[in-house]
Amino acid sequence: MRVRDVLVRAQAALRTAGSTSPVIDAEVLLAHVLGADRAALYAAPERELTQEQVARYRELVAQRLDGVPVAYLTGRKEFMGLDFQVNPAVLIPRPETELMVERALALLQDLPRPLVVDVGTGSGAVAVSIARHHPGAVVYAVDISKAALEVAGANARRHGVAERVRCLEGDLLAPVPPELVGRVDLICANLPYVPSPDFPHLPRDVRHEPRLALDGGPDGLGVYRRLVPQAARFLRPGGRLLMEIDPRQAREALSLVPAPDWEVFIERDLSGKERLVVGRYKEG
Ligand SMILES: C[S@@+](CC[C@H](N)C(=O)[O-])C[C@H]1O[C@@H](n2cnc3c(N)ncnc32)[C@H](O)[C@@H]1O
Repeated sequence: MRVRDVLVRAQAALRTAGSTSPVIDAEVLLAHVLGADRAALYAAPERELTQEQVARYRELVAQRLDGVPVAYLTGRKEFMGLDFQVNPAVLIPRPETELMVERALALLQDLPRPLVVDVGTGSGAVAVSIARHHPGAVVYAVDISKAALEVAGANARRHGVAERVRCLEGDLLAPVPPELVGRVDLICANLPYVPSPDFPHLPRDVRHEPRLALDGGPDGLGVYRRLVPQAARFLRPGGRLLMEIDPRQAREALSLVPAPDWEVFIERDLSGKERLVVGRYKEG
């Protein structure tokens, strides 16, 4: 079979199954099987596939039809211009989370050797991106999932920042060394924030991701509620806390970071949605 033929069939099957991106999904999976990029498919639509390639492609398309996200099938996801390894132990990094990294880099730009904590690091997308884009940053990357930390560590090595990304296993800021109390410049948190009752109604693809990465308790804010007092302990005066939220939680999330200890505002993402709580811890 030729590239063009298998693509047409896969796209039709994905479209029939209700996929919102049948063309891209079919192309990305075929490029993955061929060890090529998508442009190579356009360059050689008449290329004949081997039987093994056809069989492997059919297997991946079948899994995609079952709702397995493309990133888990290819094992890769692009974030902040970097190629990240992913697997079902970690949340697939989302484009909207780039806002947190951009804000973090802007806040850190005048500090030569800032101390940063990325709590709930997952694949390490946030921690590794900060370390790659700020050559002096030292980032403590915490996760409660050992399997996720293995992925974060692999991504730190892949991008040459393993010496400055320190992976720590545990609950919220508990594993952060006590000598960092009152000294941390910035804490980034993209922790679970989906209300538990919403979980069964999430899109099928999302339900393939770890529940531990998504479920934020009855109102979705349980994990952030526990984080804020811990963050206050570790931040230096004037240090910042960034928390990604669901736009529908914005008012409630603001109330977790109260005056007079905090100055706080919410930043909108590119689609205009309230996405990021930016807290500044009081000056002494
Ligand atoms: C929404 S995912 C975010 C992953 C990554 N930061 C990103 O933006 O792609 C949340 C992560 O928080 C971790 N997590 C959940 N509860 C935690 C806790 N109590 N302490 C530390 N990490 C936790 C999960 O294992 C998961 O990796």
